[in-house]
Amino acid sequence: MSRQILGFDDAEAVAQFAAHEFVRRARASVDASGSFKVALAGGSTPRRTYELLGQPPLSGQVYWEAVHIFFGDERSVPPDHHDSNFKTAHESLLSRVPVPEAQIHRMEGERQDLEKAATEYEATLAESFDLTVESGPPRFDLIMLGMGEDGHTASLFPHTRALDEARAWVVANDVPQKATRRLTLTAPVLNAARCVMFTVAGDDKAEPLHEVLEGQRNPQQFPSQLIAPESGDLLWLIDQAAASRLSLTPGHPSNLRNSP
Ligand code: 6PG
Repeated sequence: MSRQILGFDDAEAVAQFAAHEFVRRARASVDASGSFKVALAGGSTPRRTYELLGQPPLSGQVYWEAVHIFFGDERSVPPDHHDSNFKTAHESLLSRVPVPEAQIHRMEGERQDLEKAATEYEATLAESFDLTVESGPPRFDLIMLGMGEDGHTASLFPHTRALDEARAWVVANDVPQKATRRLTLTAPVLNAARCVMFTVAGDDKAEPLHEVLEGQRNPQQFPSQLIAPESGDLLWLIDQAAASRLSLTPGHPSNLRNSP
């Protein structure tokens, strides 16, 4: 695994770089394998990245017909709800680029039978990656993640059951601290990816980011510490405000461009 922590002036610069990195990896993956399988992040931070990908010039630089869209997690709301991760992605990107409908795989977070929705999403992953659910986890070309103020990522929240999941690819996770349930990819899937790209911005993320990157190892308290792709790249794209408590100096974006 190569881990790179790259620093940017502000959230806009993080989004710009993340969007260009998406394009770079999409083109390389389509050239290499004919497709690009990506899991989108939820929350508010990635919206600007999606907007940049959904408009020229970047929207014209990806062969969207070869892109397969999945989600890292979903809230227990319908797809037209304000809090829906699908809605954010649809409005800012998916409704603006020609990804075939059949290649957009929404997580049905609104369902009451959430365990069944999780199992069905696993079956969708198995089919798309030509795997059986008994085999090893699917290997995404790119997984986009954010990090919450409590150090959670996807819907892997502190001290929740999903943190210990070692076999399932997708679970329904009870999140008592938010009095809700979420669908989420699990650490085995996140850590099987060719690349995991975190985008983190704002001073409300400074303390948890310091704990995640420089604190004691305690993934039950800071679940983002669980993310360490076995044979893939781990990119942390962070702005100055989020980096304000770090003692390490984030690398310059050009570092990545010069890496093979
Ligand atoms: C979600 C996300 C979650 C998100 C963080 C950061 O559905 O909430 O997947 O993991 O990335 O909560 O959210 P913000 O970007 O809104 O700060």
